[in-house]
Formats: sequence, C-alpha cells, structure tokens
Amino acid sequence: MVISIRSAETADAPRLIELDRVTWSPENAVAPLRDGDADFFERRPPGDVLVAEDDGAVVGYTQFGRPTPLASNAHVLHIQGLAVDPSVRRRGVARQLLEAAAEEATRRGVRKLGLRVLGGNTSARALYESAGFEVEGVLREEFLLDGRYVDDVLMARRLT
Ligand SMILES: CC(C)(COP(=O)(O)OP(=O)(O)OC[C@H]1O[C@@H](n2cnc3c(N)ncnc32)[C@H](O)[C@@H]1OP(=O)(O)O)[C@@H](O)C(=O)NCCC(=O)NCCS
Repeated sequence: MVISIRSAETADAPRLIELDRVTWSPENAVAPLRDGDADFFERRPPGDVLVAEDDGAVVGYTQFGRPTPLASNAHVLHIQGLAVDPSVRRRGVARQLLEAAAEEATRRGVRKLGLRVLGGNTSARALYESAGFEVEGVLREEFLLDGRYVDDVLMARRLT
C-alpha cells in the first residue's frame, strides 16, 4: 500500500461522509453522526482537512481547527477528527495523517498541536502517544455515552 496525503476537495465530501459512517460509535465519538445528506464541509473548509489516498481511493482523513478565535490562542491548532477505513487499519495511515497535520500546522506558525480523545479509546490513545502527544489533563466523567460516564483526555504535541 502506497499512501499519499493531500488537502481535501469539495468532491471528496460523499466519501468522507461514508468514512464517518463506518467509523464513529459511542466508543470513539461524543456526537451522533451528521445527517447523511449534510455537507461534510458545512462547518470546515476543505483546506482544513487532509485525506489519505491509496491508489486513488480515499482511505482516511484528519481535520483540524483553532480551539478558539482569540489572537492569544492563535499558536494552537487542534486535531478535530481522525478516521481510517477499517479495511486498512494498522498500516500506518493515521500516523502519516498526523505527521502531515503537524507539518501543515508548523507551516502555519503553530507551536502546539492539541486534541481530545475519549478515555476508553485505547487504539487512538496508543496512536497519539506513539506520535509524540502527551496527556495534559483529564476531564473526569465528562460525557455520558450509552449509559456510562466517560473521561475526556486532553493531549498535545509541541511543534518547536
Ligand atoms: C485510531 C485510528 C485512527 C488508527 O488508525 P490506523 O491507521 O489503524 O493507525 P496506524 O496504523 O497509523 O497506527 C499507528 C500506531 O498507533 C497505535 N495503534 C493504532 N491502532 C491500534 C490498536 N487498535 N491497538 C493498539 N495500538 C494501536 C500503534 O502504536 C500503531 O503502531 P504499530 O502498528 O506499529 O504498533 C483508527 O483505528 C480509527 O479510525 N479509529 C476510529 C476513529 C477514532 O477513534 N479516531 C480517533 C478519535 S480521537
């Protein structure tokens, strides 16, 4: 498998919605899936989404955004979604997407790349730790998902 990473384009929207459909569950996401007809880029421009391609097929994506619009917070960018098609997991796709996101963040002058991950999402937590992210805090029992209180873990990686 030869993975290439590129910025998303509006034409990727149906495939990205499909990736969401096969990816998200109460194990790894706090919000219900968007309406199947909603535009993937409704709240985020394609330039803030990177996709991973294998032989022309989109097999994963990550999206990022600023945690707040404050000028004093402009040196921080957050990963706000990362998904890899179940058929190609454990082949380094997410790791490449994270590295590409870190490069893009550095290009934008960002010093710190942050994210939030559910406490029980062990695969994602292992991924982020292996990619240099450190736990900065834990919001205990932050979400009630499927009748269970779940921690929200705040992680970040310094880019300088
Ligand atoms: C988490 C996720 C993005 C990982 O994608 P992936 O392409 O399979 O990850 P990679 O192959 O790049 O894995 C890199 C490293 O992460 C860790 N890792 C990834 N999946 C793992 C798993 N299931 N169990 C343990 N460690 C795992 C390992 O350290 C792995 O390195 P290794 O394979 O050399 O041991 C993918 O499982 C996914 O889409 N999950 C559902 C959505 C999700 O939880 N997103 C994150 C929300 S915060």
